[in-house]
Amino acid sequence: MEKKTILIQLDPDAHASVFDRVVAIDSNVNELFSYANVQPDQVRDLVHGAIFTRGPKDLKNTALFIGGGNVEKSEALLAKALGAMVPEYGLRVSVLFDANGCNTTAAAAVRIAAKTLDLKGKKVLILAGTGPVGQRAALLLAKLGAKVFLSSRTIEKAQSAIVLLGKKIGECPAPVAVQVANDVELKSALEGVELVISTGAAGVCLLPEKIRQAFSSLKMVIDLNAVPPMGIEGTSVMDKGAVREGVICYGAIGVGDLKMKIHRAAIAALFTRNDQVMDALEVYEIALNF
Ligand SMILES: NC(=O)c1ccc[n+]([C@@H]2O[C@H](COP(=O)([O-])OP(=O)(O)OC[C@H]3O[C@@H](n4cnc5c(N)ncnc54)[C@H](OP(=O)(O)O)[C@@H]3O)[C@@H](O)[C@H]2O)c1
Repeated sequence: MEKKTILIQLDPDAHASVFDRVVAIDSNVNELFSYANVQPDQVRDLVHGAIFTRGPKDLKNTALFIGGGNVEKSEALLAKALGAMVPEYGLRVSVLFDANGCNTTAAAAVRIAAKTLDLKGKKVLILAGTGPVGQRAALLLAKLGAKVFLSSRTIEKAQSAIVLLGKKIGECPAPVAVQVANDVELKSALEGVELVISTGAAGVCLLPEKIRQAFSSLKMVIDLNAVPPMGIEGTSVMDKGAVREGVICYGAIGVGDLKMKIHRAAIAALFTRNDQVMDALEVYEIALNF
């Protein structure tokens, strides 16, 4: 008899994310085990509980979800979880990493852009791309052949964010670091850009309307900040393909519908095999179904 599906949620925060729990239930997992305040040195025993209970052929029905609000802390849990598996005996379970929604959000934004524009060889700017969402959007766009520019208020931070992408970039040209700390630098960064994805912290305006209107090369803007004021002034959080002065606009809620579909589909896909590690590139593969 087919075993029940069990999703084991590992979260470093004081309370396991309610958002992630709701999505798990909406993805029809049979059982959800939620663990909060998980420390890296506790992960091994939790993973062993997952891999040593069912036989290898049933382990596809057990999976891990690693979430939480602090992506760095969650990445430490992911590393420990992968290290605790015993793949040589088939004793492993699939893992989805989506701390703070970084992978599903980046995948949704890039999928929307790729369905709308031909991105190959085109100049795209990830504004404030040093955070978890921006880094992943930069990676995905580079993989799609776009000429990616990743900005920060300091050039060193932009360069470090690109270094962090490391081997994942593979053969494709790495994103280029740019400093955007004032309007002059912003205008310089926008030269010839067709797509801007704004991935700055919540409630920070990064692209004033007057400057945006001066760049006729712009075809599309996506603002992932849902907290007023908008990251891209003159757009709306609800925008879902709204055309404003010839520019196609998406806001955080406009992207959110696809983000949720990707999240649910990624959880469902976990239970097809026991050897998957779903990070940015794997989550984007799921996004291609939409
Ligand atoms: N729609 C959704 O479902 C969803 C899901 C997840 C996230 N989000 C949103 O997506 C955006 C990106 O998320 P994230 O977690 O990657 O962002 P984040 O790490 O909080 O911030 C990204 C970057 O914003 C810049 N920044 C921070 N404070 C700033 C300030 N006061 N002025 C100017 N720039 C500032 C920093 O870049 P530098 O220091 O390098 O300049 C930072 O690295 C956020 O707005 C988040 O709320 C949306």
